[in-house]
Amino acid sequence: MIASAANSSSEFNNSKLIPLFSAEQIQNRIQEMGAEITRDYAGREPLLVGVLKGACVFISDLMRAIDLPLAVDFMAISSYGSQMRTSGEVRIIKDLDTPVEGRDILVVEDIVDTGLTLSYLLASLHARGARSVKLAALLDKWERRERPVQIDYLGFKIPDAFVVGYGLDYAERYRNLPYIAVLKED
Ligand code: XMP
Ligand code: MG
Repeated sequence: MIASAANSSSEFNNSKLIPLFSAEQIQNRIQEMGAEITRDYAGREPLLVGVLKGACVFISDLMRAIDLPLAVDFMAISSYGSQMRTSGEVRIIKDLDTPVEGRDILVVEDIVDTGLTLSYLLASLHARGARSVKLAALLDKWERRERPVQIDYLGFKIPDAFVVGYGLDYAERYRNLPYIAVLKED
């Protein structure tokens, strides 16, 4: 565990990390997800679309658990306005380099929370003429859903708590933790 190193700055001294999923649990689940994706996409060449920055660690492990020819690309998006806004409109900060028309797209996301970001993103990929659009998400904070999102490949359901690690951040920190933890203010 590198929790103490990640937690050493005075700015974060009042926060506590409570482990939720160990590195081993995450790896085991990702191997299962990769096997399922390999079966479902047999004979096809999916385009994995990672949503930056949170999904960077997850997609790195997931793509290596998929035994198929595939391509990888990334998008970066941010919500319009404040966190309180429920319009579901998101801004594309970095778009794909790859045309999606006719492709089988597998969006790879760290966590589905309200579902606003994903419902917009999935609809936008459909509108661009993708042959299919599916979603792999590591975490599902299902209690907070405001918009329905179909998660085709899910790692874990989690309670309504703020989680960090394995790509997930608090103020850009903790992404490098190899495990996932709940971040609690003391
Ligand atoms: P939606 O649109 O589903 O947004 O509400 C999902 C995005 O919100 C961020 N998010 C989190 N990030 N710990 C994080 O580090 C969390 O517990 C958390 N919950 C939501 C994340 O960027 C995700 O893509
Ligand atoms: Mg994210």
